[in-house]
Amino acid sequence: MHKKLFIPGPVEVHPDILAAMATPMIGHRMKEYAELHGRVTSGLKKLLFTEGKVFLATSSAFGVMEGAIRNLVGKRCVNFCNGAFSDKWHDVTLRCGKQADAVRFDWGKPVTPEAVEQALATGKYDCMTMIHNETSTGVMSPLTEISEVMRKFPDVMFIVDTVSSMSALKVPVDELGIDSCIFGVQKAFALPPGLAVFTASEKALRRAAGMEGRGYYFDFVEFAANDAKDNTPSTPCISLIYAMDRQLERIFAEGLEARWARHADLADYVRDWVTSRGFELFPEARYCSQTLTCSRNVRKIDLAALKKRLGEVGFAFDDGYGKIKGQTFRIAHMGDMGRADLDELFNAITTIMPELA
Ligand SMILES: Cc1ncc(COP(=O)(O)O)c(C=O)c1O
Repeated sequence: MHKKLFIPGPVEVHPDILAAMATPMIGHRMKEYAELHGRVTSGLKKLLFTEGKVFLATSSAFGVMEGAIRNLVGKRCVNFCNGAFSDKWHDVTLRCGKQADAVRFDWGKPVTPEAVEQALATGKYDCMTMIHNETSTGVMSPLTEISEVMRKFPDVMFIVDTVSSMSALKVPVDELGIDSCIFGVQKAFALPPGLAVFTASEKALRRAAGMEGRGYYFDFVEFAANDAKDNTPSTPCISLIYAMDRQLERIFAEGLEARWARHADLADYVRDWVTSRGFELFPEARYCSQTLTCSRNVRKIDLAALKKRLGEVGFAFDDGYGKIKGQTFRIAHMGDMGRADLDELFNAITTIMPELA
């Protein structure tokens, strides 16, 4: 039995996308690929509001998150850490042999513009990383306010993970001054995993060009050289790029404003549901994510048992991540989801919950 996915990624994939993935194969050095690549990167530029480069990498997000560190950190990096994935990014930075410091926030709290300003004002750093939407805690940090601070530090590379937010709300990459914006496709884009997208500003490409130890697979300079021919350095996940092509068509057919409004509505819908059932939101209300709701299990429900029972009736449910597993649960409302999908899950939870009391 297929379990319908309400976990924060991978999420349900629309049948049109699965069909697009079955498109007969082409070679990546054929003109058919260049056409596909050109169309997809143009669509992504429109979606990301960038005139800069948009690259397609065959990896999960962490491949490029590591690549960005190797290409862009020269002197020292500051990693803003407010959950499991941003903590991991700090670890990845150190494992790449780079000098780095973590600025830590309690889980459930956002990265703040004040903390960014304080860290960068030390003059120690030429690179910063942050996660827009911390999927482990359901916290969305105030990217616009942070971007205003970043304007004061034009020599510091601004690297942002938008893995679980991109496309669900407006993230205008150029206006925000983001030097490298990175995301995988199995969350807010609702594609199967295996493709990562990243942008590179002119400044980022200049920095990369002078950087030692960029490696090959995620070398930004290689990506730029190949992109000039609508291509990738090594063989890309062509089936997923067909899927992205189809998903971009679907996204623009829905309309960006409508897509953002749908996600805002779903976020309200889920927050209302959990709070009206006696749970609390894990983040402070104004920092709640637009794509997943992380709730505090104040009713002390046996979440492992709930997850098991939901699995038996066809729903994949998440009972918290890392150190807050069991104390929180997360409901995803990203990708192609609508209220009717969430109602299916809510009805199942309502039926099962009395059995667990
Ligand atoms: C915000 C965020 N960043 C990074 C990752 C890591 O992505 P991947 O497993 O695709 O490398 C995830 C995965 O859940 C995530 O949610």
